[in-house]
Amino acid sequence: MASIGKIKLDNPVCLAPMAGFSTVTYRVICRGFGSSYAPTELCSARSIRYRGIGPSYQYLRIDPEREGLCSIQLFGFDPVDFEYAIGAILDDEILSKTDMIDINMGCPVPKVIKTGAGSALMKTPKLAGDIVRAAVKAACGKPVTVKTRIGFDKGSKGDPEFIKVLSDAGCDMICVHGRSAAAIYSGKADVDAVALMGKAAKEAGVTFFANGDISDGVSALEMKEKCFADGLMVGRAACGNPWVFDKIRKEMEGKVFTGPSSGERKEMLLRHLKEEVELAPSEDAAVRAMRGVFVCYVKGMKGAAELKDRLCRAVSVAEVEDILWN
Ligand SMILES: Cc1cc2nc3c(=O)[nH]c(=O)nc-3n(C[C@H](O)[C@H](O)[C@H](O)COP(=O)(O)O)c2cc1C
Repeated sequence: MASIGKIKLDNPVCLAPMAGFSTVTYRVICRGFGSSYAPTELCSARSIRYRGIGPSYQYLRIDPEREGLCSIQLFGFDPVDFEYAIGAILDDEILSKTDMIDINMGCPVPKVIKTGAGSALMKTPKLAGDIVRAAVKAACGKPVTVKTRIGFDKGSKGDPEFIKVLSDAGCDMICVHGRSAAAIYSGKADVDAVALMGKAAKEAGVTFFANGDISDGVSALEMKEKCFADGLMVGRAACGNPWVFDKIRKEMEGKVFTGPSSGERKEMLLRHLKEEVELAPSEDAAVRAMRGVFVCYVKGMKGAAELKDRLCRAVSVAEVEDILWN
């Protein structure tokens, strides 16, 4: 079974970090269906350094008792920011319980890459290595992982050298998403390019996770076997669909998976929403923040277009319940 540093995972499939989706509430739900762990969404190391934990707490929030293994994902461009940010995390009563620190080297969003952070770090490998070294030093023995892509530019075919840089710097696990930063989320994940990087990770002796378009047993087995992957991360297929972890595990074992009914999906949407409300500043804020998630839950249901339209205008739990059941 896969391990990350000294941490042993109980299964190799986990929820990918996704801003707006992989909240602590949803990570706990996915764990119940077999996601072995899930990093938080990305959070700015610079913001933590200069503004403290407070303003970023909603992104950093972890619940070690309910979510099991925790990993906090940071992005940035300055090794010193990482030192301060990880120091602040380790000084916090709850955040210090995180099991790992993950560094985002894959984000393609312009406002992130123009600072030299996220996927732009693939173009500055020395700096990427310095950031990992700073993080390893600050993390006081907790594993440091990196999530990256197959390259920065369009047509990238994988960057095994980048794996070597990260591994030499002391990274404990590298996850590669099979698209270039330029592709953002378009086109199909390039399994061969991920495999090239997976092979480099194997040679370097670093744990490797593959990511991109995994949604069932067939795609999971293909990624796992072709890419020398110790583990897999599932992104969009898990949005509004925590059952995907059960499906993948069963299908990888050659078993048949029967999907949830519309009623079960509606009940899960409501459980998810009610738990988000408990952590949000207000009910109305939680309902609004969940709109993109509602759309995923009702996708493919009878009358989905009308349901989506009405759910995206709701501002209270009572309204959402009424729309779903009446
Ligand atoms: C809405 C959204 C938000 C994302 N946010 C993050 C993030 O905060 N950190 C990160 O490393 N990757 C982020 N990603 C990338 C995913 O983790 C994953 O690499 C990508 O979706 C490809 O996997 P998939 O084909 O299974 O969706 C995000 C993706 C989406 C769709």
